[in-house]
Amino acid sequence: MEYKAYYVEENDGVFSSSIKNLEIPEPQNDELLISVSYSSLNYKDALCAKGVKGVAASYPFVPGIDAVGTVAKSNSDAFNEGDQVICSGYKLGMSVNGGFGSMICVPADWVVHLPNAMSDLEAMSYGVAGLTSAACVKSILDKGVIDTLPIAVSGATGGVGSVAAGILSKIGFSVTAITGKSSEEGFLKKIGCDHFLNRDDFLEGGVRPLDKTAFGGGVDAVGGEILVKMISQTAQKGSIACCGNVAGASFQSSVFPFILRGISLIGIDSAESSIELKRHLWEKLADEWKLDLSEQTKTIQLKELDSEIEKILNGLQLGRVVIKHGD
Ligand SMILES: NC(=O)c1ccc[n+]([C@@H]2O[C@H](COP(=O)([O-])OP(=O)(O)OC[C@H]3O[C@@H](n4cnc5c(N)ncnc54)[C@H](OP(=O)(O)O)[C@@H]3O)[C@@H](O)[C@H]2O)c1
Repeated sequence: MEYKAYYVEENDGVFSSSIKNLEIPEPQNDELLISVSYSSLNYKDALCAKGVKGVAASYPFVPGIDAVGTVAKSNSDAFNEGDQVICSGYKLGMSVNGGFGSMICVPADWVVHLPNAMSDLEAMSYGVAGLTSAACVKSILDKGVIDTLPIAVSGATGGVGSVAAGILSKIGFSVTAITGKSSEEGFLKKIGCDHFLNRDDFLEGGVRPLDKTAFGGGVDAVGGEILVKMISQTAQKGSIACCGNVAGASFQSSVFPFILRGISLIGIDSAESSIELKRHLWEKLADEWKLDLSEQTKTIQLKELDSEIEKILNGLQLGRVVIKHGD
């Protein structure tokens, strides 16, 4: 028996992708075979599809760091055939063939039940990006933010940024979007942003060690100089969650915001979060943090992935892209 997958191969250092039929694996002890209904496109998947070092362990490989679907075979007491489940992170789409295939075979302890109040399409409209946004929001709320000032969100039109902005707005915060897409003010307003800072304007004049306070906290999906400026403008005791590196993997900050304002910088690694935290965040996303992402989610088929991968790598995605299997 075979399943259909977006398959990335390497030949003499050149990476290419195609849609292939692969043999369905047999689940071992404590593993599940899951028939995938949807996956989603995350930045890491795009890097994996292009063979960027440090993502996939080896090739040929099927990317896709998240998936939702139905248990087709269970070798675990915790799940029955027919259960609807979500798998995200850990080694899925890194060293275990991922959600860009219509079947995945994974350890049961990587998997949570799909919350009752969430459809499979809704789950992947969040996907890893949305789960990461929820982890960022939870982390800054737990650590502390100043609710009389706006919360800054960078990469605001992207997957992580747009969901983080939506959640923060839903729970009552004023949100400042930092974006490279000034033309998308309408989109940003719709998802709940109150203020807009063009990325270049924000960075103009460079970064001072300690700037005038503008933010009560932040969610940073891009890193680099933007993160440094967010740090320098965050108010006393505010906190910033840092999860991405599209603008740069390194940064140089003054220590003053930390030692004179007591601000906190929190690193987020959603892939390796505990399964208990993931379950908690999925429940939040199904309930009090639930967003209607239908207008900011594009649903595509496997054969449309190549062009969407180019877009995400060029910083041109708006919202989320979901891959539907079975067509
Ligand atoms: N730590 C974790 O657990 C975790 C989990 C998921 C994702 N991530 C990381 O989070 C980041 C964002 O992921 P995503 O899925 O949201 O990607 P995405 O959908 O491509 O969004 C990234 C957004 O960043 C902005 N951007 C792009 N290039 C930029 C540049 N050169 N300088 C500044 N901003 C730029 C763009 O938004 P604007 O045009 O609005 O500025 C873009 O839409 C990636 O680095 C990803 O690897 C980390």
